[in-house]
Amino acid sequence: MVSTPAPGSMAEAQGPRRPRRKRTIDRPRLSSFEALRRINGEGGYANLVTAEVIAGLDARDAGFVTELVHGTCRRQGSYDMIIERAAGRTLNSLQPAVVDVLRLACHQLFVMRVPMHAAVAASVDLAGVAIGERVTGVVNAILRKLAASSWDEWLAELTVGLPERASLAIRHAHPQWIVEAFATALASDDAELARLLEADNEPPVPMLAVRPGLADVAELTAGGAEPARWSPWAASRPGNPGDLPAVRQGRAGVQDEGSQLVVKAATGAGLPEGPWLDLCAGPGGKSALLRGLAPGLLVSAEVQPHRAELIGRALRAYPQTGTDGRAHQVVVADGRFPAWQAGAFGLVLADVPCTGLGSLRRRPESRWRRDPAALGQLVELQTALLASAIDSTQPGGLVAYITCSPHRAETVDVIAEARGVQLLDAPALLPEVPAAASRLNPRCLQLWPHVHGTDAMFCALLRRHGG
Ligand SMILES: C[S@@+](CC[C@H](N)C(=O)[O-])C[C@H]1O[C@@H](n2cnc3c(N)ncnc32)[C@H](O)[C@@H]1O
Repeated sequence: MVSTPAPGSMAEAQGPRRPRRKRTIDRPRLSSFEALRRINGEGGYANLVTAEVIAGLDARDAGFVTELVHGTCRRQGSYDMIIERAAGRTLNSLQPAVVDVLRLACHQLFVMRVPMHAAVAASVDLAGVAIGERVTGVVNAILRKLAASSWDEWLAELTVGLPERASLAIRHAHPQWIVEAFATALASDDAELARLLEADNEPPVPMLAVRPGLADVAELTAGGAEPARWSPWAASRPGNPGDLPAVRQGRAGVQDEGSQLVVKAATGAGLPEGPWLDLCAGPGGKSALLRGLAPGLLVSAEVQPHRAELIGRALRAYPQTGTDGRAHQVVVADGRFPAWQAGAFGLVLADVPCTGLGSLRRRPESRWRRDPAALGQLVELQTALLASAIDSTQPGGLVAYITCSPHRAETVDVIAEARGVQLLDAPALLPEVPAAASRLNPRCLQLWPHVHGTDAMFCALLRRHGG
């Protein structure tokens, strides 16, 4: 509990001054505020910042902070509209720290169902303790307007007269350009679009993946994990993954099931001979699966040195050179300008940098930071990396082009420009996974959070001509 002497009460702006009392604020709310300030004020990532601030809290408080911070980040765009309407002024005219207090209050009021009096009183006290007594009047006044209407009433007010897609964007707290991109890739009705948006707002249970040859799913289930539906390497388990010895020892790691399934598809038509290349490998999740499956050498390339170090960490439980002829090498390299011979690899995985629109449920703040104006440059990079991946593949070898995004421009449109390759039927390599075909090109794989409970991973398999 943190406290500071304070004049009056939360109602000071409206009534006669009450006797002085000490303002107090509980540790979870103060930690949540500090986390949100680091996320919004310093560009921190919600997952990393939250993990730091909950260290040392008991499980109940840690759960409260995680839900409050992550939930607030996810719905921030819609909360901001409500706050502006309640305040009768733009967010820019309010102190950023005050805005963060109000955002946290919105989440407590509208989603966590904290009783109104408790949410308002605690938020005014938080403002007084963490920012200063001078802001409590304005915070109190805005909070009272916020709390006077329910979430549904606010939504009705904000969406009146809007077209359906704009209304869905506010209701499910997504930027509208992302809603439009999803609608294009889903090629379905607005009811399904709403289910997808809702799935993005549900935090997934952490998914684990064993490193093939080093551990199996039975070891994870013996530690309390549940086997996943389709990946032979996956099991999910709430709580701290580091509690399991296999994870601590690098024989298993955290990885969404969708990321595992694209590797399963890429290796599903038989294991290509010759060395394998993971062209955009950092932080090494897919390399860790490939290393256990590759018949010989795996080269993992990554342009950013600190992410190349993470690949080394992901592969640490494998010997760099095994007695079985299998080995791995991590290289810092720009995949567009290969540091290896053309046509050298039997399998090339091009898991290219993308907008990440497929993993919004796992990255609470990311939807509000993505810039649609960056798409053109990304597509240029993706196109160049795919061309380089094809060039690096032996005639007859296989390229897997992968994105963690269903956006048409970075998926099927990039594939349509590929030369010297045949597009294989990727969904046919995962017959156990229902409805896995892209609705824009049924020979490509497209997973969905609301259908498969995975990230929205895209994968196209391309066989290089010749051989
Ligand atoms: C989607 S992530 C790859 C995720 C990784 N395959 C995994 O499963 O852990 C894309 C990676 O490509 C890297 N990257 C970006 N541009 C690159 C380039 N020109 N050459 C190689 N890597 C690049 C990024 O730094 C990032 O680490």
